[in-house]
Amino acid sequence: MRVIECSSQDQAAELVAAEILAALRQKPGLVLGLATGSTPIGVYQRLIAAKRAGAADFSRVRTFNLDEYIGLPADHPQSYRHFMRAQLFDGIGLPRHHVHFPPTDGNDLPGACRAYEQAIKSAGGIDVQLLGIGSNGHIGFNEPTSSLASRTRVKTLTDKTLADNARFYGKGEAQPQLATTMGVGTILEARRILLQSFGTKKAEAIRQAVEGPVSSFWPASALQLHPDVTFFLDADSASLLTMREYYRRVRKNEIELGG
Ligand code: PGA
Repeated sequence: MRVIECSSQDQAAELVAAEILAALRQKPGLVLGLATGSTPIGVYQRLIAAKRAGAADFSRVRTFNLDEYIGLPADHPQSYRHFMRAQLFDGIGLPRHHVHFPPTDGNDLPGACRAYEQAIKSAGGIDVQLLGIGSNGHIGFNEPTSSLASRTRVKTLTDKTLADNARFYGKGEAQPQLATTMGVGTILEARRILLQSFGTKKAEAIRQAVEGPVSSFWPASALQLHPDVTFFLDADSASLLTMREYYRRVRKNEIELGG
């Protein structure tokens, strides 16, 4: 695992965007796993800027989103399909048929979830998976006690997640309690994982993910089993790490070696 404590959220976004753009140069048909929430927005802005500057071509990129709420139509302002169109897809001109979301309706959701897994496989698997982390350690909507071998399925959101996201809903507006999410097992199959985390609210989740035991109680701790995962943290999110000084020294050496 690489743990990079960044000087700011902007620097983290800069580093992550640079990694994605480098991967895209190497493989124009890159398969990206994408996240929603406030954390990845800086990365998406930089990808759009690269496209506008003519420095990146996304026409062959295919995307698979981590999760989507059940019960919100695609054009609802809080749906992740709407979020992704507004924050990224329209800005990089991604062909519509290259975009994939976990299924949220129909009379055979389990079958549709299996088809989502199959679609990821048929695309050749996810090359780069972007992740955030919940204050309860969730990745995607894999809430605490999610099986570390789980696949795409419907999950009930915890009170903690509902409370964290309540700010996006107006008074009296119904907030979805269910979501379809890639499983922890699905996420672990991505070739490379880039996780960003900002703020003190996430510090305990980051400590558990990086330095705690592997446990379904902190689903992000499963990332310890992945061979190519990088945590991009701001100082607040890194604040509870016991080996913080060590990670800084590793990073310094990495930079000196040209990384
Ligand atoms: P956030 O959500 O980026 O809005 O903090 C992250 C998550 O819950 O995975």
